[in-house]
Amino acid sequence: MIAIVLGTRPEIIKMSPVIRECERTGTDYFILHTGQHYSYEMDRAFFCDLALPEPKYNLDVGSGTHAEQTSRILTGIEHVLMKEQPDIVLVQGDTNTVLAGALAAVKLHIRVGHVEAGLRSFDRTMPEEINRVVADHISDNLFAPTETARQNLLHEGIADDKISVTGNTIVDAVFQNQDIAKKKANILDTLGLEPNGYFLVTAHRQENVDSPGNLKNIIRGICAIHEEYSQPVIFPMHPRTRKMVEQFNISLSGISVIEPTGFLDFLQMEANARLILTDSGGVQEEACILGVPCVTLRNTTERPETIAVGANMLVGTRCEQIQEGAKEQLKERNPWNNPYGDGRASVSIVRVCNSLPARIKTE
Ligand code: UD1
Ligand code: UDP
Repeated sequence: MIAIVLGTRPEIIKMSPVIRECERTGTDYFILHTGQHYSYEMDRAFFCDLALPEPKYNLDVGSGTHAEQTSRILTGIEHVLMKEQPDIVLVQGDTNTVLAGALAAVKLHIRVGHVEAGLRSFDRTMPEEINRVVADHISDNLFAPTETARQNLLHEGIADDKISVTGNTIVDAVFQNQDIAKKKANILDTLGLEPNGYFLVTAHRQENVDSPGNLKNIIRGICAIHEEYSQPVIFPMHPRTRKMVEQFNISLSGISVIEPTGFLDFLQMEANARLILTDSGGVQEEACILGVPCVTLRNTTERPETIAVGANMLVGTRCEQIQEGAKEQLKERNPWNNPYGDGRASVSIVRVCNSLPARIKTE
């Protein structure tokens, strides 16, 4: 039995192909939602869009400091795992949900599978980097999306026989949903947007939006792009960012700020954008998969594959660099290959899980 642990928007999206694959193969599983994300547009919207089954458990942990949130998740997951005694716990990515899920399981001697293992920004000031490193080192099965990720793990002394290079489940999610998005999503019409006639922005990283200087610079850079190209800039705003924009009293004049959208609408906006500017991990990947140029509002990335193929550029958070980066990324370029796999990562992951020996249950 597989326990699928998730708690935030990207985990719901990237675990959705694994859940579908469990359903397709008749694999015994259940979903444990930590409730790290809980607002409709960060949580339920994705269960609806992706037609996912209800989680068996929801810990409703909500927001808090890192220690508060992580400790609530840790305690809640431990209770569920002691009751359910799954053979393996699957966690995905680099959130506090992942750190706590992996830690609770390994202490109960339950096998941990880390989906999207081996990513490294090499910046330990990012909370996500700490979560990734710890989760990788206490996992039994490391599902690395690329060869680069596998090499990162090997360099840290992780045994090769624990690692499977599977591709990233985001490719599965994009392939499974892009035709549905074409038929069902109508956000371009709703917002009056022309294909290739607008810029799409997301930003929510703690080090960017919790810093008044960085957030002001990012917004200035985005406003400057709006003025320079006279095209709409659409910014579906993460609740964390909205809170900080209000707290720092930052003006957003010229930018079209909207609520975070569901996955189908977001896919439609990404696929038709002229350029994407983001600090999101998943959005960097999706831009690369969809063939849309991307400017990343950070100094480092754990997605170097996107840079290597020419899809993405790191520009940091300064206004002038954001403008320069946009200019550069808008130049004509040859199409690139998607480095994240063929859309069958979830098939490989569930196959590996099903080939493991059953666990001897503890009292
Ligand atoms: C978390 C992850 C981050 C991931 C992101 C995906 C950690 C350390 N961070 O960041 O890696 O990229 O999710 O979006 O795990 N809030 C709401 N409603 C919600 C959720 C959050 O209003 O449903 C607001 C609250 O004010 C909260 C703030 O957003 O304090 C931050 O939420 P939190 O889950 O702590 O971190 P994220 O920034 O969402
Ligand atoms: N996303 C979405 N609606 C939005 C913004 C993002 O559906 O308004 C999706 C996007 O397609 C991607 C995921 O959310 O799959 C990325 O999540 P986020 O940027 O919150 O987290 P990260 O990937 O940085 O951890």
